[in-house]
Parts: sequence; C-alpha cells; structure tokens
Amino acid sequence: MKVLMVCLGNICRSPMAEGLLKDKISKTLHQIEVDSAGTGDWHVGEPPDNRAIAYMKRKGIDISNLRARQFKIKDFDNFDIIFTMDKENYSNVLALANTEEQRAKVRMILNEINPGQFQSVPDPYFGGEEGFELVYNLLDEALEQFLKKI
Ligand code: 4NP
Repeated sequence: MKVLMVCLGNICRSPMAEGLLKDKISKTLHQIEVDSAGTGDWHVGEPPDNRAIAYMKRKGIDISNLRARQFKIKDFDNFDIIFTMDKENYSNVLALANTEEQRAKVRMILNEINPGQFQSVPDPYFGGEEGFELVYNLLDEALEQFLKKI
C-alpha cells in the first residue's frame, strides 16, 4: 500500500504525518510506503520547518532529511490513499482528480478519528510552538486509528 500525506506547504503538517507514519510502520509488520507533498509550490526543495523538525526530534523522529515537493496529477496513479490535512487541501486535490477512481483515493486524515466530520488539522505555520504539539497529537491519534483498521 502507498500513502501520500498532503498539506499546503509540505513543510509542517504533511512531513510530520509522513515521519510519524513511517515511525509507526517501522514498529509493525505493515508494508506501507509513505510520502508527502504540498498543494502549494512556495517551499519546493526545502527541508521541513525548523519547529516541525525540533518537535519531531523531541519525539525521537528525524524528519530533517525530507524535502518539500508539490502535489502532481501523477500522484493519483502512484498512491492508493491520499490523506489531506485540511478542507482547503481536500478540495484543491479533489479539483485535480479526473476520474471517480482518483476521487475515491482522497480522504481527510481526521476522518480516521471522527468519520464524516471533515475536521482540519490546524495550520501551525503562523502560530507558536503549541500549534506543532497539537498537530502531532491529532496526527498520532488519526494514524493509530488508521493502522488499527488496515
Ligand atoms: P503546512 O504549513 O501546510 O502544514 O506545510 C504551511 C507552510 C507554509 C505556508 C503555509 C502553511 N506558507 O504560506 O508559506
């Protein structure tokens, strides 16, 4: 199975989700490939935000080697599940889908915790450190639920 995490800049939420899922997978027998991308292109080629790197490091997860890239149409073919972090990413990715099969791959990540609620992982970019803690806790719970179901 191949899973793609998508946010806006690909430097805060989706690389944290990528690092966290890879870490969880490394402790189980799940065969899942994980990548992340942003709907925007401002940070292409950059490592994750320093605050995201630092928070993940505190949790024992190194995401400093990840580099931002932009979501591309080909990702619909390359991945089985596309997890979006918020409603804006969700509609932007869905708007790029051309087939029902592609649309069916797109999910809101917090629907893993609260199905059908379409809640967003708050964008931590313009806030303080506590935003990164909230992102981590939400993603941790969502990914635990996801792994339990597959
Ligand atoms: P992310 O956070 O989508 O979680 O990576 C953001 C990063 C950068 C910007 C916005 C959100 N930005 O506007 O540059």
